[in-house]
Amino acid sequence: MKAVYYDRFGSVDVLKVGDLPDPRPGSGEVLVRVAAAALNPKDVLVRKGKFRLISGRRFPRVPGYDFAGTVEKLGKGASGVAPGDEVYGMVNAWSGGTCAELVAVPAGELAPRPPSLSMEEAAAVPLAALTALQALRDLLGVRPGDRVTINGASGGVGLFAVQIASLLGGRVVGICSAGNAGLVCELGASEVIPYDERDPPASERRCDAFFDVFGNRPYPLVRPDLSHPHRHVTTVPSGGAILREITSRLLGRSVRMVAVKSNRPDLEQLTRWIDAGEVRPVVDRIRPLEDSSEAHAYLETRRARGKVVLTVGR
Ligand SMILES: NC(=O)c1ccc[n+]([C@@H]2O[C@H](COP(=O)([O-])OP(=O)(O)OC[C@H]3O[C@@H](n4cnc5c(N)ncnc54)[C@H](OP(=O)(O)O)[C@@H]3O)[C@@H](O)[C@H]2O)c1
Repeated sequence: MKAVYYDRFGSVDVLKVGDLPDPRPGSGEVLVRVAAAALNPKDVLVRKGKFRLISGRRFPRVPGYDFAGTVEKLGKGASGVAPGDEVYGMVNAWSGGTCAELVAVPAGELAPRPPSLSMEEAAAVPLAALTALQALRDLLGVRPGDRVTINGASGGVGLFAVQIASLLGGRVVGICSAGNAGLVCELGASEVIPYDERDPPASERRCDAFFDVFGNRPYPLVRPDLSHPHRHVTTVPSGGAILREITSRLLGRSVRMVAVKSNRPDLEQLTRWIDAGEVRPVVDRIRPLEDSSEAHAYLETRRARGKVVLTVGR
């Protein structure tokens, strides 16, 4: 199969496109012919070797966690889909592997693709939208009437977070650059704080729940602006965030760190919202698999407006 891969950790220069052996679906796995794969900052961090202790050092390594495609074959004991079904999902394993023509995925980590989306749009959903859903619903417990601030509102996770926080009944304040304020409001924010134009007064900073998607507004910084009991979730596993996650779990507090996990019920929830027109992916750009290096380099600028997607099998 054709795949993007690398043989050592490093910059975008380590990425190559070539032929690798086809994966075989193991027990409980589904072999998917990938039509499109989305990139995430996790792909960049893993490629640079930042998570080598947990991601492992086996090469060649194929990047990609998000995919949309067609079921090719079922492994022993896999159920819930059939060959020919169009599906989308996110691979939980650190090994990734979706930037390739074929990927073997545990059956619980995919769901039927939202019929209203193209393959490229569907691939843009899973990791980012599941992160937003699990952070806002499960960790922050967003309730109707909550004032919810989302830092990094115009990125891959942020644009889903704005829409999902609004759906959960929150009054959303988005922090993004002034140039993206219009998009963030269009998707459901009632206010925007343009971080590149001004420092907001305390009255604008006050909130009931804070989702630090971008990762530069950790709990100690935001704490004075939070109503009681404090609710803050970060995406970035810093030493402080890990320590706070452990103590919060022990003490039942809502100062947490999200660690997204793919599962079929959450994917199905996203599908219902998407097909009802209540959530939509924003795709910044679509590139062919051959342009993976350029796509990774763009993601690394940290200025993507929504998702960066690779077309794989067409
Ligand atoms: N723990 C988990 O399970 C998990 C899951 C998903 C993601 N993450 C992490 O979450 C982070 C965000 O992921 P993502 O996919 O949303 O990234 P992304 O799409 O690359 O984020 C890009 C966005 O960041 C915004 N941004 C840049 N500088 C900013 C600043 N100073 N303040 C606020 N926003 C700024 C940009 O908005 P402007 O252009 O408007 O500035 C751009 O829209 C990454 O670190 C990722 O690794 C963790």
